[in-house]
Amino acid sequence: MKFSELIAPVKMPEFKKKILAGETFVIKGKKKKFSHLISLAEIEAVLNNGCNTNLPVEMIVKGGRGTVADTNILWAPVSLRKKEILQLINEKNSMLMRNMSQITPRVAAMIDEIETVFEGAHADVHLYMSLKKSSSGYNAHRDRPQHKLYLQVIGSTMWKVFSHSNDLDDEIVSVKEEDEWRYLKQEKEFTLEAGDMLYMPPATFHKVRNEDGPRISLSIPFYVPEKPYNRMDRTYIPFKKIFESRS
Ligand SMILES: [Fe+2]
Repeated sequence: MKFSELIAPVKMPEFKKKILAGETFVIKGKKKKFSHLISLAEIEAVLNNGCNTNLPVEMIVKGGRGTVADTNILWAPVSLRKKEILQLINEKNSMLMRNMSQITPRVAAMIDEIETVFEGAHADVHLYMSLKKSSSGYNAHRDRPQHKLYLQVIGSTMWKVFSHSNDLDDEIVSVKEEDEWRYLKQEKEFTLEAGDMLYMPPATFHKVRNEDGPRISLSIPFYVPEKPYNRMDRTYIPFKKIFESRS
């Protein structure tokens, strides 16, 4: 997906101007705008492939995230405790898979494009999944140093964006619900529907929930790191085509 299509109908100069202004903004889109990027079947296949879990799926429980993994398995350094994960899903906990920038060839191409448009930036994909209505979410928090693009692929999410009081220690990144009145002031409240895209500047306090039903969201953090890193090689290997060419 070309970046220009991603942000349409907004044009690049306007988009960059908004980013430089440091504002959180939403680009409304048609319901199926992002549905070609990933399907439920593709997510299910990756979730159940326990063989390449260098960063295992995480569950969002009690406002924070954690892995449900076993590191005492003979043939694998990390293996998912899937029965527990299934139970947590049924108890309305959301889940997250990071390091998903190559989950499908279409997503990989899109992330390559983002890294090209924002020269020197490195991007990842955090895939957020809530399988039940009103599943868990993080406490209000701020992510640094990354900028965020957030694509609502299926379903909807309710967002609250806050400013914070000067009393809040710079090291604090997350605020519990009972302390929100003390440190945070709600600035915006909106719903992202399928096809909508959000841009959020680094260090913005926010809280996200899914009250209307199941949802799939692609969160894309990106920033230019201080020390140089190699760009991830997301080349697609056409295994089947090569195999079947019989040459
Ligand atoms: Fe976040």
